[in-house]
Amino acid sequence: MIPQSFLNTIATEHRVSSAELEALSLAMQGESIANIARQLHIKEDAVRKRLSEVYQKFQIQGRGPVKLTKLQRHLINQYREKANLQAAFADSYNQAINSSPSKEAANRHNYIDWDAAPDVSVFYNRTNELATLNDWIVNQRCRLVAVLGIGGVGKTALTVKLAKQIQEQFDYLIWRSLSSAPSLEELLADLARILQPEVELSQFKTLERRIFWLITQLQARRCLLVFDGVEAILSPGKLAGTYLPNYQNYGQLFYRLAEEPSKSSLLLTSREKVGTVALLEGATSPVRSLKLDGLEEHARSLLQEKGLCGEQNWTTLIEQYRGNPLMLKLAATTVQEVFDGDVGEFLATTLFPHSVTDFVAQMVNRLSVLEDRVIVEIASQEMPIKLQQLITNLAEVSTQDIIDAVVSLKQRSLIEKVNHGFVIPSAVKEVINLSNK
Ligand SMILES: Nc1ncnc2c1ncn2[C@@H]1O[C@H](COP(=O)(O)OP(=O)(O)OP(=O)(O)O)[C@@H](O)[C@H]1O
Ligand SMILES: [Mg+2]
Repeated sequence: MIPQSFLNTIATEHRVSSAELEALSLAMQGESIANIARQLHIKEDAVRKRLSEVYQKFQIQGRGPVKLTKLQRHLINQYREKANLQAAFADSYNQAINSSPSKEAANRHNYIDWDAAPDVSVFYNRTNELATLNDWIVNQRCRLVAVLGIGGVGKTALTVKLAKQIQEQFDYLIWRSLSSAPSLEELLADLARILQPEVELSQFKTLERRIFWLITQLQARRCLLVFDGVEAILSPGKLAGTYLPNYQNYGQLFYRLAEEPSKSSLLLTSREKVGTVALLEGATSPVRSLKLDGLEEHARSLLQEKGLCGEQNWTTLIEQYRGNPLMLKLAATTVQEVFDGDVGEFLATTLFPHSVTDFVAQMVNRLSVLEDRVIVEIASQEMPIKLQQLITNLAEVSTQDIIDAVVSLKQRSLIEKVNHGFVIPSAVKEVINLSNK
């Protein structure tokens, strides 16, 4: 006996109307035309008409009762194929969880796939950020949430921590790194293998229909999708948050996810604010973003763990590094290897080793020509610079362009607004000054 859910799906795929599906379902249960007519309160001719539409849609040839037998056989075969696929999927899934580090996390009630998410056994503070994200996703059921911040500030680590805390509340947790810039088609096919392995996405001819498929999946159960490192699908040399050519369709996906009611959430991390998020976010909107700053004094624990000494200088080091855990770890290696762990001696000699400036340069190198002009001007200042002063200093650039560039630089966390103007973190300043020598 074919389950009704399978009939429903295959009927939708073949554009069988709901009236036709009613007749088909009863026919599949072996009911006679007369019985179907009685149950549906329609004439026998109407039943025949509906079934003949169905035969056409499944391209079943032949005459009268032969067609029904053919259709039944066809559907049973299709169902068996699907069941085999599902069994194969279950095998590979079991293999995957038995051989992956996420095994302990995959419990009987929910499907958990961490992909290549890093382990975060050492993790300091972030209490407020975790509470905010928890509130947005669990209590307020925001559908699209972005964690933003400069490279190395801890977006991925925070997101892993959050996802671990809230995973029990979801039927599915699927973590995907976008670092290899998968096309949206690849990503959707990947999600289809997990969410509905029996469905072949290529049967949906347009991207809209595939996105619609995902949305119905996300409406049917509570899923937490995490896309980590979204900047990989954003374009260098353009204003922040612009999709790479061929990747604009991600914008369509984010837009639809934000717009359609659903009990699932998509959590993004990115070094740049994604265009669609900037467009749709708001205090009462289901789209939110959290800008992540450094660890501040909690970074002391990190320096301690790295075995550094010269504690009286730690605050200076942390301030200069804006509490960025990755940059501090890179510096700590140099401090250990060259200065026997003494932060004071390190600071007396240098501030940013190459490991740090190379890392920051990756981000600075992505700037647009316009942003470059503006950031060089900000970097040349000793004091915070006001917008009006920037406009005066860059007389040859239009005010509108300067404003666009400032917004974009902020969305990359490469400049900061303080009360009396814009400033630039020391490590970024160092890189700008190095490249403009
Ligand atoms: N709260 C924290 N406590 C301790 N270590 C942290 C914390 N946050 C991040 N780290 C460490 O700092 C490093 C950088 O963190 P992470 O990879 O999460 O940064 P990111 O913002 O995702 O960077 P990128 O933009 O390069 O992806 C990692 O080694 C991570 O373990
Ligand atoms: Mg990351």
